[in-house]
Amino acid sequence: MGPYFFANWKMNKVLAEAQDFCEHFKASFKAREFKDVGIAPPITALQSVSEALLHTRGVMVGVQNVHWQQSGAHTGEVSVPMVRELSAEFAIIGHSERRQLYGESNENVSQRAQAALSSGLKVIVCIGETEAEYQAQQTEAVCQTQLEESLGGISDAKNLFIAYEPIWAIGTGLAATPEIASGVHEKIRRILEQRFPQTPVPILYGGSVKPDNISELLAADNIDGALIGGASLDPESFLKIIELGRDSNP
Ligand code: PGA
Repeated sequence: MGPYFFANWKMNKVLAEAQDFCEHFKASFKAREFKDVGIAPPITALQSVSEALLHTRGVMVGVQNVHWQQSGAHTGEVSVPMVRELSAEFAIIGHSERRQLYGESNENVSQRAQAALSSGLKVIVCIGETEAEYQAQQTEAVCQTQLEESLGGISDAKNLFIAYEPIWAIGTGLAATPEIASGVHEKIRRILEQRFPQTPVPILYGGSVKPDNISELLAADNIDGALIGGASLDPESFLKIIELGRDSNP
């Protein structure tokens, strides 16, 4: 499966910076026979990035969140039809920053994921424990609850991805070791196999992924790709991650 490489730009890059990234990126990107790379710019740059990468085979453009209703009184939100119109092919749902800073619950995450999946978007549902939960050895229990509740109501996993992102590893420079990540991924895999026996679901790792740790992470069992924040902002570093990651997990 994969490996897949998804960039999450978060609240970074004004249009000129997004354009600049695309110019550099597409000059050196080498497509595989399937789409293994996704870029989620801020919503303000979605149209411009979609257009810039329109003819770059192998790359999807997506969004960092999406609402579950088609339209209505939801100040500050965007809906699935709105992002599809701008060629979004995937959505990141339930990122820990959404959960922690903006109060999104598992139930909320499941509503968003269902709306996106039912429209044909690919969906990356993010889960992961806090540092305190990690120290208290609650990683498995926390991830299991988040996974089961966030996937509530989802019966077709065809376009589903899971990202395991330990919160203590996000933006800290301190990635989980391949052993830790691989161990959690194995538990997640077991739950997913029970839940969706017919459909393999790729499991991505996220949290301080960089060119110098991607190879060992992707060489570990059950790690099918990466969700990359900080290191995806620079085209050279994102391209390096893709190149090294593909080599270590062919
Ligand atoms: P990071 O972010 O790579 O900057 O740690 C990952 C993420 O939040 O998805």
